[in-house]
Formats: sequence, structure tokens, C-alpha cells
Amino acid sequence: MAIHIDEKNRIFTLHTLRTTYQMKVDNTGVLLHTYYGARTDDGDLSQLIYHMDRGFSGNPYEKGKTDKGYSLDVLPQEYSCFGTGDYRVTALRVRNTDGSRAADLRYQRHEVRPGKYALEGLPAVHADQQEAETLVVWLRDPYTGMEAELLFGVLPALDVITRAVKITNEGQTPVVLEKAASLSIDWQYGDFDWVTFHGRHCGERNLQRQPVGHGIQSIGSVRGTSSHHYNPFSILCAPGANEEQGDCYSFSFVYSGEFAMEVEKDQIGQTRLVCGIHPDDFGWNLAPGESFQTPEVILSYSGAGFGLLSRNLHRTIRDHICRGKWAGQRRPVLLNSWEGTYFDFTGDKLVAMAQEAAQLGVELFVLDDGWFGKRDDDHSGLGDWFPNEQKLGCSLPELVRRITDTGLLFGLWFEPEGISEDSDLYRAHPDWAVQIEGRRPNLSRDQLILDVSRTDVQDYLIERMCTILDSAPISYIKWDMNRSICDKFSHQLDAAHQGQFSHRYVLGLYRILETLCQRYPDLLIEGCSGGGGRFDTGMLYYCPQIWCSDNSDAISRLDIQYGTSFGYPGCTMGAHVSAVPNHQTGRVTPLATRAAVAMAGTFGYELDLAALSDAEKEAIRRQIDTFQASSQLLQQGDYYRLRAPGTGCAVWENVDAAGTEALVTAVYSHVVCNGGLIRVKVHGLRPEGQYRVHLLKEDETADWSRFEFAQDRFLSGAALEHAGVVIPPAWTDYQAWQLHITLCEKD
Ligand code: DGJ
Repeated sequence: MAIHIDEKNRIFTLHTLRTTYQMKVDNTGVLLHTYYGARTDDGDLSQLIYHMDRGFSGNPYEKGKTDKGYSLDVLPQEYSCFGTGDYRVTALRVRNTDGSRAADLRYQRHEVRPGKYALEGLPAVHADQQEAETLVVWLRDPYTGMEAELLFGVLPALDVITRAVKITNEGQTPVVLEKAASLSIDWQYGDFDWVTFHGRHCGERNLQRQPVGHGIQSIGSVRGTSSHHYNPFSILCAPGANEEQGDCYSFSFVYSGEFAMEVEKDQIGQTRLVCGIHPDDFGWNLAPGESFQTPEVILSYSGAGFGLLSRNLHRTIRDHICRGKWAGQRRPVLLNSWEGTYFDFTGDKLVAMAQEAAQLGVELFVLDDGWFGKRDDDHSGLGDWFPNEQKLGCSLPELVRRITDTGLLFGLWFEPEGISEDSDLYRAHPDWAVQIEGRRPNLSRDQLILDVSRTDVQDYLIERMCTILDSAPISYIKWDMNRSICDKFSHQLDAAHQGQFSHRYVLGLYRILETLCQRYPDLLIEGCSGGGGRFDTGMLYYCPQIWCSDNSDAISRLDIQYGTSFGYPGCTMGAHVSAVPNHQTGRVTPLATRAAVAMAGTFGYELDLAALSDAEKEAIRRQIDTFQASSQLLQQGDYYRLRAPGTGCAVWENVDAAGTEALVTAVYSHVVCNGGLIRVKVHGLRPEGQYRVHLLKEDETADWSRFEFAQDRFLSGAALEHAGVVIPPAWTDYQAWQLHITLCEKD
């Protein structure tokens, strides 16, 4: 049993394979958080809580005269409330009918359910009854009747615990939720570092690690989307934690909109983390009887460093977030038209590109922006989802037929949430754009955003997209979104309800995506927001892959994909080989390097293949073969970060679950003359097995006569794990090497 309940002492213990999470109802009815960490037993861990009088940390009335050592200001709690004596960052802040802000939740009852709870209208971890259990604990404010239903999902095999909260106004009068976080969690002991992932357009998910100090540190987004700028994923870890050792706790917010993650070290060195919808743009009115469901947070703990933590999260996302036909399948190798043509194409040009691609082994042709309405640049046309037959030279079904006749699948780009002022849609429905009456709106990429919080707008988009998807065999869509949202206002909400806009927008987005997933179960949807501006576990519930960044430069991608890998598996990271000089950085990298880096993601191409030499085309054929042959370990296997990009040579390993095959990829940021050698240890193999280590000789610039590594080597799994292998030195800047390691009996 994953969930153990000591009814007499009111202790709830959640066990996973390697972790234990415990809470206890104390004698005032407060649900205390007693422990989260390495697996223990069901024993009462509230002995870790020490009560003493802390000056200026007040006491609940029932304790105030007899027990000055009892204070909500220092006690570890499961769901902390603002306004009743806990002065730390809190999870729940309400505005009661009388204008007061106080809330105080006390235990009511609990229930254990088989399987994993689901959340209506929201993405969440899914698991069957063999894989998960659910604990529900109800808390209630005795004064107002505000009720919090705390949901805990336990997935033992993956060391994952999920949390979400449903808040119901069981009182007689209306209240407003000003903040309703999904999670609040306390640690009484220990110092922590906080690892977060910040970025920008074309430079997403850079790792930052800093000690948690006194005060509140926070990351978040008020941009309408989860954002390029801070990813809704973070890790709290022991100061000494690294890839292979140390305590690490991760928090993945399963949500694609505005979020806040806040960490506070309090007056006595305790640490609290709160995660949920960002409160700045939020206000949710609850009439008597109404409820609000928060999104979910995925928690995981590893006592063996970041590597194990990431591998558990990768499995969780692959098997319990992603859904549908493509979740566990190798994704088709694609050619995307964007960097090859931008807006400048004809139907014939597209067909020629597809023909070329088919000859090289590409499997899917994706027509990106520019195929609809009046859309020859980014100043017009968004919202007019009608194929531009004049530009295509034929109808869309005819174009799809010509492209699928080459043997490729066909995919199409949409930016459903965008609307150009210069569009028929805007002229017909100016009130569908997000803007505040009487105020000139902020433009970004010269476009506005559709008010996706409205059901009529959602229905328009569903009708337009389904009509197009029904008109031809379209196997894939790319769902793009190209600006941050401001001037937030919906014509369909009255003044008192405008605080609901941002969350309703996300619910609307999810409703459209869910409709498409249900109606087209075979459709592969790739998420995108100017690259990785909405790269989160919420979107992955609908789109099993997301374009990782608009920066397709292989060397920039080392950092972007490295940071992304902490919370997300490679099969979710859209990654393409593009032209050189690279369009974002001007950098010239070897074709083999670009392919090696793209293989760490979904793998595809985004360039004009006709401009390549015969030798380059031949290399592409081989790259596609390599990817397809190793796709199982690349997309479904285990992932090890062996060296970070900042070291001058990034090295990572993909290995299959059975330990029979691994691919070690090393990419140098620059060449070093007469430098030291790099040795890496190869993990996940069978210690007794004999392996062949084969260097893939793909680099077109290498002089093979100079390499003693050109010959295959034979080593045991134990030797590879403990002694390791040497990575050949770089011969040119940006050189990539791939070592293919196979169990000999397999050959
Ligand atoms: C931004 C995306 O990230 C690009 O890949 C491309 O689809 C453009 N939008 C098209 O406008």
C-alpha cells in the first residue's frame, strides 16, 4: 500500500519506492507536514517538531493562554493560510464578505481512493489503479465555511507525489480568492540551494543555482503563458548535490499560464516553498456553493542527485503526462518549411521541397506560417484560417495530396490564439481581441491576442481548425503562440470578474486542445510559443512535443537542451538541423554536430535541402538511419548528463532500459590545442556484459588517419561504468563525437 493511515493518531504516510511523505493532524486540527525525503516507515515523525515560545510569533486562541510554544508562524503545515498568524509566504489568501483577509483551515475528514485523481478541464498526471493511489484530506475554516480539499496522488514506482487543491465556499456569503496556490511545503531543517531555469526568446531554460537565504525568492510569469523567462519547474537541493548524489526535490507545475514559485527561509532557518497560479493577475469570486480547482504540481525526491530525479521525471512525463498514439512512439523525422522559405513560397516550391526530403528519408513535411489569409509577412492575416489558394496555386487538399504522394506525411502550422488588426476576423469581431476599451493596446510582433477565455472564440477556433483538418489527411499540427499577453480584459466578464481572465484563458486553450485530442486521436500536435515560451507539463498533456527554442544553432541548443533536460525528456524537445551560417547566431557548425544535437530531441530538419551538396545529402541519409536505428534509446531510454555545456564539452548519454545499447554524444564548444583529454563514465549498462564501443565517423571535417579512436574497442559494462571511456579531442571548433555502445551478444 502506498498510503498508510494511522487513524488513531491521525497520521497520513505516503510511500513511494524510495521516498516517504508524511503529515499529521495535531490536537488543534491543524494538518502538519512532518516529513518528505528518503523512505522510512510509518512511524510518527512529528517528533521532529520542537515547540518553544518564539517572540512575536503569536498563538491560536485555544493555545494562547496555555501554550505559547504553539505558533502557526513556525509550524510546518500542509496548506498555509494568510491572515491568522502565519507571517511567512502563504498558499491561500481570501477576501471574506466583510473585507477581512483571514483564513484558518482545520481538519475535517479524509478518504483513500484507488488510482490517480483527475482534474476537470485541467491537465494532470494520469495513471491506472495498479500504478497510483489517491488521498483526499478535507480542511475547513470554522468561521467562514471555506473548505479546502487537498488531493495527493502517489505513483510509487516513479517516486512521484502530485498535489492539487479544490476550494469550495461552503459558507453563506460570497468570498474572493486572491491567492490559491496548489502547493505549500515546509522543511524544518537543512540549508538548500534553489535551482531555477530562466531565459528569454531564443535563449530558454538556463540553469541558475543559488543558496536559499532569508527573505522570499520567487520566479514566475504574468505574461499569460508560462513564458520563456522562467520555466514552471524548479529544484530545491542540498548545497552539495550534484548529478549523482545529494538530496533534491523537484516541483513541476502542470500549467501553461501565469505562475509563481516562491521560496522563503524564515526567522529560524526553516524553508517553505509555495507554488501555484500567480496571484498578481488573479481574483476568483466564489458564491456560496461554488468551487475553484487549482492546477496540479508534480513533486519528486531523489536522494541520489539530479540524474535520478530527472530520469524519474522523464518517465513520468513520457508515460503519465503525454497521451495518445504518439506518447510512446518514435516521432516522424520532419522537414519544417520555416527557415527554408519563411513566408516566401509557392505550392510548387513546397512540393519540390517535399520530393527532395522524401529521397533523403524524411517522413513528415510541415508547412509552417504563411499558407492562409493575407499572410506574406507577420503584419496581417492572423485569425483568417482559410487557405490562400492563390499563393498555394491550388486548394489545400490538392497541395496535401501532392505532398503525400511523395510518400511523406503532411503537417500544418497554426497560431490559433493570434489575431492581426489587418485581418477579416478583427474587422468582423474587434471585441474578440484582448484589449481594454479606450486604451491603445500593446502590440507585439504587430499582433494582438484572441480572447480565448470566451466560449464563442473557442468555438470559432474549433470550427476553423476542424474544417481544415477534415479537408485533407493532415497528420500533424504545430500550435504556435507568438506574444506575451497584457492589456488583459475580456468583454465577457464584468468588472468584478476580470481577475478570472488569465486563468479562464488557459482553461479555454485547454478546452480547444482537448477537443482536438479527442476528435483526432492520431494527430500529432507540437506545441510552440516563439520556440519554448510555453514549454511546460501542462502543454505536454496535449502536445507530446514542443519546439524547444527559435534558436536552432547547435551550440546555443547545448545550453537550452541541457537546462530543459532537468525537467523534461528528450522526446518532448522539438529540435531540428538548420542551415549554416545559422539564422539566429551566424555561427557555422559541422552538419554532423547539428545532427548530433538535434538527435537529443525529436529530430528533424529546417532548411532548404535543395541548397545542399550531394555529400551533405548523403550525410543526411545516414543521420536519419542512425536516428531511426537508435530511436528507442534516444526517445524512450534513460538519459544521463555526463558533462555540462559550460565545461567546454557537453556530454550526454542515452541508454535503453535493458542496458543493451547506449549512445554517448559529446559536443565541443571550441577546439583546444594540445589540451587535456575528457573521460566519461557510461551508466545503465550490464556490469557483466561485453560491449563494443564504436565511434560514428560522421564528421565531414575529420582527418581519420590522426585518430587512434577510429578502431572499435571492447569493454565490460563494469569497466565502462567505473573506468569509463575517453572522448576523442576536438579537431575543429564545435566538433561532435558519438560513441555507439552495443552489447556484443546482440551483434
Ligand atoms: C515562431 C515559431 O517558433 C517559428 O518556429 C515559426 O513557426 C514562426 N513562429 C512562424 O511565424
